[in-house]
Amino acid sequence: MTNRIVSGIRPTGNLHLGNYFGAVKNFLKLQEESDCFFFIADYHSLTTHPTPENLNYNVKQVLAEFVACGLDPEKATLYIQSDIPETAELYLFLNMNAYLGELMRVTSFKEKARKNPNNVNAGLLTYPTLMAADILIHRAEKVPVGKDQEQHLEMTRTFASRFNRMYKTDFFPEPVAYNFGEELVKVPGLDGSGKMGKSEGEGNAIFLIDDEKTISKKIMRAVTDAGPTEANQTPPQAIANLFALLDIVSTADTAAFFRESYANCTIRYGDLKKQLAVDMNNFVAPIRERIIDVVSNDALISKIAATGREKARESASKTIEEVRQIIGFKTI
Ligand code: ADP
Ligand code: TRP
Repeated sequence: MTNRIVSGIRPTGNLHLGNYFGAVKNFLKLQEESDCFFFIADYHSLTTHPTPENLNYNVKQVLAEFVACGLDPEKATLYIQSDIPETAELYLFLNMNAYLGELMRVTSFKEKARKNPNNVNAGLLTYPTLMAADILIHRAEKVPVGKDQEQHLEMTRTFASRFNRMYKTDFFPEPVAYNFGEELVKVPGLDGSGKMGKSEGEGNAIFLIDDEKTISKKIMRAVTDAGPTEANQTPPQAIANLFALLDIVSTADTAAFFRESYANCTIRYGDLKKQLAVDMNNFVAPIRERIIDVVSNDALISKIAATGREKARESASKTIEEVRQIIGFKTI
């Protein structure tokens, strides 16, 4: 068994702190120990019909942000999904054995169809087949993804084993989610509700490109309450979220100090926020500076994309050649 890892991220906006701790940080670790393929899922993003300008900007930006975070094109294969047309070909093959019923039962499909009833396109329905193609094109065994992607991975295993059975082969492995155990953090947002996310509304997410002023403004406006009324009460979610953010970017002492002052009812949310803003900026600043450097260096970005394209195509073309043979497309 090889130690091949594939994961992708949709280029739908700038990376935020949730993306960093939920995805990128894990990639940083994995690139040190495994044969990793990390890509920008630009085919996938077409389900929401971005303009050419937006698509192009976002792909370039996310690639630059990946690199600024420390993903290393020398260690991992960093590439853009649409640079590997072999993925689209495998997607076509897999779609021949992907059934309407099973695709319609996928939770993310149902949810998106419910939210946007006027855009229930075939690409949305076959999103899991495309994702399976991304993974199987490199015959990967492990896929570092969050909980929300587990069902897609299950479909990938279904498609892989169905192909194997149909052609009496063991060509495709059945990939599993790569779990980080306790290290899988969920970064909360600033709006007092659930997780940090780019579509959760203005001010909920801290982006890695946010400048000091923006960070401070967002944090100072974070949702709080009137304060604790009795000792040792359990904080409501909005306050627990701020503590969780302190856990992520501040020292253990700082986080403990504010938890304690909550417990004994002396807490001043203004002080907590000021401290969180400083620590957040200290965390983000070096990444932000690297993003600015990389983004302005077109030659570097092109070179990184070209290196990734070459390495990814080498792996993908090998797979697709064999798949064509297995299916019966012999070269005449
Ligand atoms: P968003 O929710 O902003 O649209 P995506 O769905 O594009 O973000 O997520 C890309 C990656 O980042 C996924 O691997 C996802 O699990 C991770 N991620 C996103 N938000 C968070 C968060 N708040 N906490 C932890 N991981 C997150
Ligand atoms: N569906 C993933 C997400 O929304 C992105 C993705 C596309 C992906 N293809 C993949 C993740 C292949 C892992 C492997 O986050």
